[in-house]
Amino acid sequence: MRVLQVASEATPFAKTGGLADVAGALPSALARLGCDCTLVMPAYRQVFESGFPLERTGFAFDVPVGQRHVGVEIFRSTLPGSAVPVYFVSNEACFDRPTLYGGGQDYQDNAERFILFSRAALELACRLEEPFDILHGHDWQAGLIPAYRRLLYQNRPALARSATIQTIHNMAYQGVFWNWDMLLTGLDWKFFNWRQMEFYGQLNFLKTGLVFADAITTVSPTYAREISEAPGGCGLEGVIASRREVLSGIVNGIDTDVWNPQTDLLIPRHYSTTDVATGKDAARIALAARLGHAAPDTRPLVSFVGRLAEQKGVDILIEVIGRMAGDGGAHYVILGTGDAGHEDALRRLAAAHPGTVDVVIGFDELLAHLIQAASDIVLMPSRFEPCGLSQLYAFRYGAIPVVRGTGGLVDTVIDTTPESLADGTASGFVFREFDSRALEYALQRALTTHADTVTWQRLVASVMQQDWSWDTSARKYLDLYEQVLAQPPAPPPVPAE
Ligand code: ADP
Ligand code: GLC
Repeated sequence: MRVLQVASEATPFAKTGGLADVAGALPSALARLGCDCTLVMPAYRQVFESGFPLERTGFAFDVPVGQRHVGVEIFRSTLPGSAVPVYFVSNEACFDRPTLYGGGQDYQDNAERFILFSRAALELACRLEEPFDILHGHDWQAGLIPAYRRLLYQNRPALARSATIQTIHNMAYQGVFWNWDMLLTGLDWKFFNWRQMEFYGQLNFLKTGLVFADAITTVSPTYAREISEAPGGCGLEGVIASRREVLSGIVNGIDTDVWNPQTDLLIPRHYSTTDVATGKDAARIALAARLGHAAPDTRPLVSFVGRLAEQKGVDILIEVIGRMAGDGGAHYVILGTGDAGHEDALRRLAAAHPGTVDVVIGFDELLAHLIQAASDIVLMPSRFEPCGLSQLYAFRYGAIPVVRGTGGLVDTVIDTTPESLADGTASGFVFREFDSRALEYALQRALTTHADTVTWQRLVASVMQQDWSWDTSARKYLDLYEQVLAQPPAPPPVPAE
């Protein structure tokens, strides 16, 4: 089976969050199951700066965007450790920019950029030697792919028999643009209606994907339920509900070549369940040096690594650390970038508690690995969380997550209770209400358990042995592809009344 994965970011070439980790690992996992997978993504400045060698493919062609024909050139590489080809759509004006989607504000021309990317991906597919069975698009940036497949590319031999999958990694980002961007899509205005591409007078890329795709997935079963209702559906709950029969939730896996304390090149000393303490000590010495401290301290290390967005619960995190830092019971390390207000509040928090709260504002892959390796406790007080990867990385590195019970965190973290400790299923500390007191109570429970060395060591050893590798989840995607291909092709779409 030939599958084209279309994603706007992928590790190790360009990354802002978990989507990159998924897009960089799922294709290789599918390839291991015998699937012939290809990935296509934009050739951002980061891609050229990533240090991975890119070849010219000789493919250079024009893509229609509205009235214009925009030239693209295609570069090629492979996903590390695999033979999976990665194609990069290059256009300097659109993708040679400092960041992927914009800084504090999104780039004004993001509709145009991802129309160009999506059509270029399909044009490329038509120029490759063999046809594709599945077009699998990720998030709003690839949301137009299912519509293009059914409305503009239905007769192209490379795609004529293909089915489309739309994966939702985050319902809060839908790619909503002003109505006149419809002209840039090359699709007929008649599809700009409330049942198809229109959303409160605007053009909605994710909605388009959800309406036209043959199947929809999201990244955990709990999130699949949450988006079927308000507020989780972020206004698209009706669309999701109307397509309930083709929606499924598949929990993300983790790339165990990249996130593995036994082989990780970004941590100072490798470790496994038998020498966690030694490994963590070495990571702490390196982290202390990186943070400008003469030596690490002996308190439990509590960390947060993530986008500083409303989603991540940074507001309650700041409140709780503000209240708890004074008691000196733990050392807090925070790494993140995003909302300017959160960045400032975190800098103030660090300034108020020198030696107890360290804050690094920025995106730093090496530091993210070092923090996971050094940590005892990882905080994820998310308002909502489609899947979440940091808690799965925490398990692997012998850190215990403290999480809000929402989305994928419900499906991956089991609260520590006397019962779950006894039956060996405990894996973290879960709180329900989105409230700083609830987070504080859960963190206090974690710190109290940490003081009980024997119990903590057992907990750490047990989470480190959990298997969250991609194998199981990739198999579920493959089953879905097979199921979708076995169905009769959908009839040509008609505009809604
Ligand atoms: P999301 O996709 O919502 O950002 P996930 O938990 O799925 O959340 O994935 C986040 C990924 O991004 C993890 O690999 C995490 O280590 C990484 N990450 C987030 N912020 C940073 C940062 N400031 N520096 C380095 N890595 C980061
Ligand atoms: C999104 C979600 C996150 C998920 C990631 C990868 O960015 O916020 O929960 O893990 O995508 O699917």
